[in-house]
Amino acid sequence: MNACVRAVVRTGIFHGAKITGLMRGFQGMIEGDFISMNARSVSNIIHRGGTILKSARSNDFMSKEGRKAAFDVISKQGIEGLVAIGGDGTFRGATIFSEEYGIPFMGIPGTIDNDLFGTDFTLGFDTAVNTAVDAIDKIRDTAASHDRLFFIEVMGRDAGYIALWAGMAGGAEAILLPEEKTNVESLLALLRKGEQNLKTSSIVIVCEGDDAGGATEIARQVKALDDSFDTRVTILGHVQRGGSPSAFDRILGSKLGVAATEALLKGEHGKMAGIFNNKISFTEFSKATKQHAPLDREMLRYSKILAI
Ligand code: F6P
Repeated sequence: MNACVRAVVRTGIFHGAKITGLMRGFQGMIEGDFISMNARSVSNIIHRGGTILKSARSNDFMSKEGRKAAFDVISKQGIEGLVAIGGDGTFRGATIFSEEYGIPFMGIPGTIDNDLFGTDFTLGFDTAVNTAVDAIDKIRDTAASHDRLFFIEVMGRDAGYIALWAGMAGGAEAILLPEEKTNVESLLALLRKGEQNLKTSSIVIVCEGDDAGGATEIARQVKALDDSFDTRVTILGHVQRGGSPSAFDRILGSKLGVAATEALLKGEHGKMAGIFNNKISFTEFSKATKQHAPLDREMLRYSKILAI
């Protein structure tokens, strides 16, 4: 997100606009938490995870009174347009606010879950996948040394992107996703087949939102059916949400920041800047939030072939 903040600030200034940084999203808007920004305000942040502008969920912004308070504050500041980084909630809030007060908004997809329609990639996804793969590699060493079965839980809520990508890159034996019904007996059959094929250790990647439960629950179910595996569980959790961003994420944030800001300055509004087949594209908020990007089932099939 910091690479993107940097791009928005510098693009705006490059084109002669005055830029204000809004702290803590919609909540900061309501509370008047602003900082005036210049090109140097965003120096030395491209390599840092998180966001210097901070982030918050705002219940207040969900009410009419909250949005009115936000409008009063931003009109006093002379703010004429906004660029917001976020997901479903951010774009829904932006749409209602624009409808009520006519303030133009452009959006940039920021979530590690990669589940927004209208872009091949969201900010943070690539970094989260790389972090997960790094952890899987480390766990593989101990799994192999001790002949163990590891269940590794990754984030993603109800979207299996991180699990699928990290699972394929990490060479997992099985990848369990919310988009596919999980059958613990079939999983066990697959693990036993692996043993017959002389595998001495296995790694199962579980998306936290899997229908059969998280990694702890699925490991418990497997153990209940077959106690012969030496099983361990690792939940990767919030390490996936921080750290120095990958080059891919920095470039994505930079490109989308420039594109969204230039579009806003040209009079566009109500759209999310995204990337499709390596080209910038704009998708209306209503479409970006209505549906999730479909999971790449072919990739799942490939990873099953490669796990024999
Ligand atoms: O949506 C992004 C995400 O990181 C999910 O993958 C995860 O389930 C959730 O946010 C965690 O949210 P919180 O940090 O509020 O616990």
